[in-house]
Formats: sequence, structure tokens, C-alpha cells
Amino acid sequence: MQFFVDTAEIADIRKLYDMGLLDGVTTNPSLVAKSGRDFKEVVKEICSVVPGPVSAEVASTEFDGMMAEGKVLAKLADNVVVKVPLTVDGLKATKKLGAEGIKTNVTLCFSPNQALLAAKCGATYISPFLGRLDDINLDGVELIEQIRQIYDNYNFTTQILAASIRTPNHVTQVALAGADVATIPPAVIYKLADHPLTKSGLEQFVKDWKGTGQSIL
Ligand code: E4P
Repeated sequence: MQFFVDTAEIADIRKLYDMGLLDGVTTNPSLVAKSGRDFKEVVKEICSVVPGPVSAEVASTEFDGMMAEGKVLAKLADNVVVKVPLTVDGLKATKKLGAEGIKTNVTLCFSPNQALLAAKCGATYISPFLGRLDDINLDGVELIEQIRQIYDNYNFTTQILAASIRTPNHVTQVALAGADVATIPPAVIYKLADHPLTKSGLEQFVKDWKGTGQSIL
């Protein structure tokens, strides 16, 4: 499973990329607003740090606007993936952008049928939002499992990009469900390496090693 980070904060992106943990980046209008930065500048900077796919979302909700904005975003860098909402206009734009050689990430997916439509329109990625379904007491992991089965039944090549991940447990669950990619907030990525038994075990090893009085170097 590939790891994307879900943020527009360049400091986190640099840190995670340097750790060798990053295959790509996703942003959305809310994350860009939170960064307080110019959208196109921040996308260009992210693309200069991470060579993998970087999702940048259109602001328009109409087909013509999505096409115009998508083309501008795609020109910012070779690794830009244009993110469009899962609406009828968004699906139409997905098909047209794809025909023009532009990669797409169809976002705000909450049902298997929506994912089926995105795949039929040739989306590069589909983004089912796990955490937002869990927030309303629905099963986000089950959605990923259903999409996996549908895509495998018909050999769709659209990649399942598990989004709206909130916890380390979500990461395990989407990996088990067969997601191709998980886009994860920085704070959750940092937590993935933590385990109390690793911490206490290492403390004991360090203490015992000191007691030997030896040095490896
Ligand atoms: C995905 O591309 C979205 O940016 C993101 O995962 C949404 O997460 P949220 O539901 O925590 O806002």
C-alpha cells in the first residue's frame, strides 16, 4: 500500500519525505485554507519536494470551470493529479481530462456506486472518505472492501485511495481491505511507529548495554 500525506504544510511534507515514508501528497481546499498560502505556489513547492503524485483540487463545481481549472493545475508540474468532486459534472470532467492525458482523483466518494461510476469514467484514483462515514455511524472500512471487490470483478485499474483517515487503526483496516493507497494526516503517520512495548523494551536494552561497559565502535 502506498502512503500519501494529507496536508498542505510543507514542513511536514519535507520531514516525511526525508524519512522515506512518502509516495505522494493530497491536498484539498480546506487544507490549503489552513496553510494560509497561495494555492498554486504551495502546489508547485510540494511538487518540487515529492516526485510522486500530488493531488490539487479544482474549486469550480461546473464542468467548464473544472476543465479550465484542471488544465491550469495540471500545468503547474508533471506530477499534479487533478482532484474533482464526485458529481455528474465532476465525472464528465474526469473522462475529458483523462482523454487529454491528465490524471484525476475523484474525491468525496461515499458509496460503492459512486466508485463504480468514477472507474467507468477512467479516474486514476477514487477517494472514499472513511472517517466521515465513521463520524455518522456508518462503516467506512466496509465501503473500501466493497469497492475493492467491484474493481477486482471487472479489472478496473482505478486505484483506491483511502481518505479521511483519522487513526492508526484505520491504516491497518484499509491495508487489510486492499486499498492501493492511504492518504494519512501527518500526526497519524508519526503515530504508526509507536508501541509502548517498543519504548520500554528499548529503554531496558539501553540500560543493560550500559551495564556491560562495552562499546561497539
Ligand atoms: C482526501 O483527499 C481528503 O483531503 C481528506 O482525507 C479528508 O479528510 P477529513 O475527512 O479528515 O477532512
